[in-house]
This record gives sequence, C-alpha cells and structure tokens, in this order.
Amino acid sequence: MYLTDDDKRMRDGAEGDAAAAAMDLLIRYGYALDAERLCSIRNVAGTMTQPSPVKARLVAEGGWDKAFAVINLDSDRDLTIPPMRVPTCQLQHGFGPDSVDIVPYPRANVDLQSDGEAFYGRHGVQILATCTPYQVGNLPMRGEHCAWMESSAVIYANSVLGARTNCEGIASTGAASLTGRIPCWGNHLDENRYGTHLISVSGVLVEGFQDWGMLGYFAGSVSGEDRPVLAGSLSRPDLTELKHFGAAAATSGGVELYHIPGITPEAVSVEAAFSGPVPDAVGYGPAERRAVYETLNEIGSSSDVDFVLLGCPHASLDQIRQTAALLDGRRVSASCELWIMAPRALAVMAERSGYTAVIERAGGRVLADSCPAMSRAAPAGTKVFATDSAKQAHYLPAILGIEAWFGTLKECVSAAVTGRWNGGLH
Ligand code: F3S
Repeated sequence: MYLTDDDKRMRDGAEGDAAAAAMDLLIRYGYALDAERLCSIRNVAGTMTQPSPVKARLVAEGGWDKAFAVINLDSDRDLTIPPMRVPTCQLQHGFGPDSVDIVPYPRANVDLQSDGEAFYGRHGVQILATCTPYQVGNLPMRGEHCAWMESSAVIYANSVLGARTNCEGIASTGAASLTGRIPCWGNHLDENRYGTHLISVSGVLVEGFQDWGMLGYFAGSVSGEDRPVLAGSLSRPDLTELKHFGAAAATSGGVELYHIPGITPEAVSVEAAFSGPVPDAVGYGPAERRAVYETLNEIGSSSDVDFVLLGCPHASLDQIRQTAALLDGRRVSASCELWIMAPRALAVMAERSGYTAVIERAGGRVLADSCPAMSRAAPAGTKVFATDSAKQAHYLPAILGIEAWFGTLKECVSAAVTGRWNGGLH
C-alpha cells in the first residue's frame, strides 16, 4: 500500500505514540482490505462516549486515555490521547441525565457517559449525540471523503449528499480521528459507486414517509450489500423520506449507496447510474408493497399497544411538529407511553417552537441522545409497541422481546391515544 511522507511520519511517531498506534491500525486495516492507499479526510463520525461494562472497567483502571486506546485504537499500550486531528463528532450514544426519570436506564451509564463527554469535548469531539449528524450541521460536500459509522447515516451521506464513506467501525473511526486518514477502498472509489440493481416501481405511487420506508426495505432485501437504482412511479422525496428509505435499505440489506436518477446527485439518468448495460428491472408494485407491509407487521398479534416509538432515525424538526399537531388537545392513554427520539439540537428547537409543550401536555416525551434499540431500554413492562419506522419494527422485537406494529405517524399517534392498534395498509 502506498504511504505518503506524512503517513510514514505519523507511523514512525512524529506526532506522538497515539497517532502512531492509529496509523499502525490503519495500515494493517488497509492491507487487509487490499487498499492501494489511504484517503485524506476531515470528517469523522464515530462513537467514543457510549457507555458499556468494558468501558467502565477500562476507565476505572486507566482513565479515558486507556478506554480510547483499547476500544478506539485496538491498542494495549499506555497512550496519552491528544486532541482529535480532524473534525470528529460523536454519533448516538446512551441516554443523558434529563432522561433519568423517564427511561429505565442505569444511572451508572448516564454518569459514565457524562464523564466521557467532558473528556472528549476537551479533545475536540463534537457531541452531536445523534444517528443523523446531517440534520444538525454535519453536511459533507459531494465527493468529500469521510469516515462515518452508523448504517443509516452512511447511506444518507453517500447517496443523498454524494459524500464518500464506507460503513466504518469504532476502531477505524478512532484511528481516523487522530490521523485524518482512512483506507481508500469500497465507496471511496469511482468504480464502486455505480448501480448494480434496477428497481422499477409501477402500479403504486411511492409517496409519503411510510411508503418510502417500505420501498427502502424492499430495495435492501433485493440488493443485499449492493447498490440499487430506483425508477418509475416515485414522488419527489424530502429529507425525512430519504432518511427513512435509507435506514430501511440498510436494515433489510447492507445497502450503503443508492441512486434515484434526477433526485440523488450522482445519477442524472438511469443509464448514467450504471457503468455498463442497464440490468433487467426488478418490479415493485402492489403485491411487493403488501408483502413488505406484512413482513414488518408479522410480529404483531395483540392489539393492546403499551408503547409508541417515533423518531428512528432521529426525528426532524418537522416530524416533531407533525407529532405535536396530531397530539394537540388529545391525551396519551394511561396504559401507553409515547416517545419521540430527536437530535438534542433539534429537541432544543422543538422546545423553543412550542412543540414539546404540546407533546408533553398530551403525555408524550421528546427524548434526545439515544433510542430504545441503542440503549436496550423501553418503558417498564412493554409488551407491544407501535412505530412508524421500518428499522425499529425490524430490530426492536428481537432486542427487547416485544411485539411490533408498523404504520403511519397518524396510526401511531392514534394507538398512543387509544392504547389500541388500528392500522392497515391503504
Ligand atoms: Fe437512530 Fe436508534 Fe434508529 S440510533 S437509526 S433511532 S435504531
């Protein structure tokens, strides 16, 4: 693998032991991937503050320097961690202190995380605390090489923004933050950004949050880890719909990049989305749409809903506004709880805009930083939950052993108010 003089300097310790350990990790990672070189990056989205029993032990033994060395650099050396070399943000992590009386989540985790935020803040990490950094100011440019984790964020960065990142891990993002380098392979290379599957929509109009999520779920199941190209009967999606589409495609499959000709930036036409002949299309129509809906609802049997979860990926300000509008003047059932997950920065704006007051008056909650899947925490005694997110409907039943209903925002709010599921495909 070709190394620049700067790469070699870091490897040889010119910028300290921690940067040398980081470069050593990246070189080994690059060789394993058969990368020809490392890309220069100035945008890392990783995770450092997320609490865990292992992290608690390492911090107790040797402080946060040791925790970063072991977990984020895969090194057992005694390292002092310097400030991050390039802009780095913390993605979603555990729940914070303001959730303590709402979410059954260990106080020890909250305290460990607060301590970690202070350490990493001093080291230059931006504590965005969301799976949607692109909603709160981290918007890489088209063609910009990045090192991001979190599948729903990676697919958004690649497809909607035209930035270039693979789905990185805790150690590779840790090493990237201290060096400004990441192996140049996969989605960083032009030849790996063309479409592989054509999905043609007909007989239904894909329109609205629920339908974009269901199409994403279908696209992921068809494409696996490859790159779908969407064409046909599609409305023009907005940020929230593409956020849902991508998260769903990265859930049922491992999609990290897709194209919607005329909408996403790297494909002006179906032909331009492929490097060679356009493949035969896989159809998506009423039967496929119904099959996806039934898959996402196959875990639901009891109509008694005790938990409604919104905001996966973390809600936009407008999703919070819509939720407030639907809850205005109503009351969440005594047998149910409603949580909407949001980036902390947007939760502040929701409060200022008066949306949070409406939601809280109805008995719901706007929560930041985390989500039930990430923190393995839901209201005590939850047996059946409802959500408008294909990703949560897919994962949460397995994580928490509960039943799931998947529907529209309106159906979810109605379930919260009545305590009963009454959804259906329209
Ligand atoms: Fe975000 Fe949790 Fe969904 S981290 S993408 S809200 S599973």
